[in-house]
Amino acid sequence: MTDASVVILGAGQGGFQVATSLRDNGFDGRIFLIGNEPALPYERPPLTKGFLLGHKKKVDLPLRPQMHYESRRIELLLGEEAVAIDRHTRSVTLRSGAKIGYSHLVLATGARNRLLEAACGIDGVAYIRTLQEAESLRQRLDSAQQTVIVGAGFIGLELAAVLKKLGKSVRVLETMPRLMGRAVSSSVSDFFAAAHRDWGSELAFETAVAGIEANADAVRGVRSFDGRFYPADLVLVGIGVVANAELAAQAGLPVQNGIVVDEYLRTPDASISAIGDCAAFPSRYGAGLVRLESVQNAVDQARCVAARLVGRATAYADVPWFWSDQGDLKLQMVGLTSGADQTVIRGDPHARKFSVFCYQNGKITGIESVNKPGDHMFGRKLLASGADIAPSEASDPDFDLKAHLFRHSASPEKVPAAQVAQIVMTQRAG
Ligand code: NAI
Repeated sequence: MTDASVVILGAGQGGFQVATSLRDNGFDGRIFLIGNEPALPYERPPLTKGFLLGHKKKVDLPLRPQMHYESRRIELLLGEEAVAIDRHTRSVTLRSGAKIGYSHLVLATGARNRLLEAACGIDGVAYIRTLQEAESLRQRLDSAQQTVIVGAGFIGLELAAVLKKLGKSVRVLETMPRLMGRAVSSSVSDFFAAAHRDWGSELAFETAVAGIEANADAVRGVRSFDGRFYPADLVLVGIGVVANAELAAQAGLPVQNGIVVDEYLRTPDASISAIGDCAAFPSRYGAGLVRLESVQNAVDQARCVAARLVGRATAYADVPWFWSDQGDLKLQMVGLTSGADQTVIRGDPHARKFSVFCYQNGKITGIESVNKPGDHMFGRKLLASGADIAPSEASDPDFDLKAHLFRHSASPEKVPAAQVAQIVMTQRAG
């Protein structure tokens, strides 16, 4: 195994985890972790929240200190970018001209912000995905008073809540009729719309940006297609992401919204895997190929690939989950709920503690919880076990979820051993 060398492109959460898990699993060959950002691999979720509020400092963000990489013999190449993959010679070429050979290549290239066409080339329009962008935004916040946020997704809404805490005026413009429409049910959208309005943000739905108005040195505001003008000295854009799949496509690998992989997260080239935000994979929780943008997906897929590379191959089957903190509201989602045709509510939205159980063809597909971590953990265990819960049971506040889980998912004849291990691990993680 010592001749083997694994090259990982992308030093985000997924790339970091592949490198770390490989060593933890006893892999003895060389490990190259190549990232185009200069900073040590860091946590992104705090960038839109604690980092802007000043609760988290730059030094708190690295996933591990430099020592971690040295002690594990992980060769970190930061501020470096791969520009080509040669599948015949099994090597990647870096922008610096250097070539690095691999016996296995892991693509963990992530995604990048989708750009707002109307804002191209205008100074004073901010995006946030990287630490560098977050630092630049933090500096600009001091002088900003009137902000317009384009896009009512996770980025836009987390920012809206933070900007209100910082005393700014906030207007959020969204093209769709409701917020977080890609990810959550309309009950959760409506609840969060009311919460953001209570915190003082103005929300405009079905509103598309026609242009940004600016002087030589500053933004003046945003004009929408319906002719309205929204004054602003800072415009923030969070309108989704695009998978970084160009390198894979240039190397002749199939790309459909993301880099196409099988259930083992292998591309059709057995020497190349793809994980995280950039990978489109068959999920037992969704139809067709899915591409998920979450910390959980990046970390669990990384672990799956690292295990395969040391001879412990299993199909990727982890339950998808996700969270978003907006003000004092913790939204947690488990499963993939976009195809839901029925929803029931458990708990009380007025008490700001409830969950929406989502069903498709009568079977549970996921749970969206607001300030109800117990329901979320229940959902993770339920979906991992393959068990179900009837809508009438879910909506009954007296129905005992724990007992249900015990009855339906803990019976050995129903749950394969690997899944029992998964349930136990998830319980510990929670
Ligand atoms: P998103 O897909 O969550 O939301 C984008 C929103 O912008 C959608 O509501 C969409 O309808 C809207 N939109 C699209 N084009 C528009 C336009 N031209 N004008 C106005 N609205 C438009 O993507 P978002 O918020 O940019 O997040 C990017 C990534 O960051 C995602 O991968 C997300 O999962 C991740 N993220 C994760 C967080 C977490 O872990 N809690 C927090 C923040 C972001």
